Amino acid sequence: LSRSMTIQSSFGDYEVQTGCGLDDMFETIVSSFDSFLLVDENIFRNYGRQLSRFDKERIFRINAEESNKSLEQVAVICEWLSDQSASRSSALVGVGGGITQDLVAFSASVFHRGAPYILVPTTLLAMVDSCIGGKSSINVRGSKNIIGTFQGPTNVFISEEFLSSLSAEDLASGFGEVAKFGLLESERLLNLAVDALRFGVVSEEVAKEVVRLSLEIKQPFIEDDEFDRGIRRTLNYGHSVGHVIESLSEFRVPHGIAVAIGCHIENLLLRNSGASEKMIGFSAKLISAIPREYVELAASVRPVDVLMKLQKDKKAASGKIKLIALEDFCRQTIVETALDFELASNCVELLQEI
Ligand SMILES: NC(=O)c1ccc[n+]([C@@H]2O[C@H](COP(=O)([O-])OP(=O)(O)OC[C@H]3O[C@@H](n4cnc5c(N)ncnc54)[C@H](O)[C@@H]3O)[C@@H](O)[C@H]2O)c1
Repeated sequence: LSRSMTIQSSFGDYEVQTGCGLDDMFETIVSSFDSFLLVDENIFRNYGRQLSRFDKERIFRINAEESNKSLEQVAVICEWLSDQSASRSSALVGVGGGITQDLVAFSASVFHRGAPYILVPTTLLAMVDSCIGGKSSINVRGSKNIIGTFQGPTNVFISEEFLSSLSAEDLASGFGEVAKFGLLESERLLNLAVDALRFGVVSEEVAKEVVRLSLEIKQPFIEDDEFDRGIRRTLNYGHSVGHVIESLSEFRVPHGIAVAIGCHIENLLLRNSGASEKMIGFSAKLISAIPREYVELAASVRPVDVLMKLQKDKKAASGKIKLIALEDFCRQTIVETALDFELASNCVELLQEI
């Protein structure tokens, strides 16, 4: 059954519809909006029948690679929109994962100084996380998410049916991010993520519950702190260490899995500074569900490289880093810690022990 939630935003409140049937959803979009589709190439290939109801001239295909999340690609998209005579009231519809969404959200926020856009997420990560919150990010010279804008979508349509064609690795990555939401706020959601990571399968029913619970957890953070100045940073839990693991493994540890490992390391680092034994027990259970080769890859890093990467973290400032201490579900605090060689060495030691 489809459900709807409303996200409050200073750019205009927007509806998020979960549990959509694929055909009904595309029918609604084609009949309700003057839409221009920006579609992930893989989705275009796998879902040709459903997309055939859209005029070919109005479909732009995106090769979903990090190297394409660039200003050059934004320019190509804006030129294409202009060539197609898209107007300020046309809706840009992004059908794909986080890369497609970032490109569409950024392009929409600059095209005619702000065109409406609609998101149709197709990866688990995009469904549970990036489709709400209104942030867009573009890479610069290979460095991730250096520039970006804030502007919410006008609608989000989620069809969990897309997950059936997603690779096992992308599905696991999504569940890593889901586990983060679970550790923050919901034992039920954490257990669903742990089971999915352990067994590698998920029913459509569970997928729907996972998407809804995750979005409900993210919602108050993005509504209370739309511009990411305070409490929204809680959602960054696991990400400082996660980004280090992701980049030092040269992306062989996928984003969400790196975040899940980062969550446990963050808990262990704060063992005497706010993280409870109960929550450390839960993040240890999460680690036990992650394929061992990822944990081993994560542990094969040197403190000096960890320190260098942590210092590059956007959220690190003047020799300090903000970590999240979990006291219990729904009870966490932001803890500022010295960012030095000792912290980096502790990280590596803990990674080798888990
Ligand atoms: N702006 C935000 O709030 C925000 C939040 C989190 C992540 N992100 C960004 O999201 C990006 C990662 O996104 P992602 O992990 O969703 O995936 P992605 O867009 O990188 O896609 C991953 C792969 O899956 C393919 N794919 C997508 N949907 C598919 C489907 N249903 N079936 C088969 N293949 C499919 C894509 O073609 C691609 O090869 C990163 O660039 C990250 O920075 C942005």
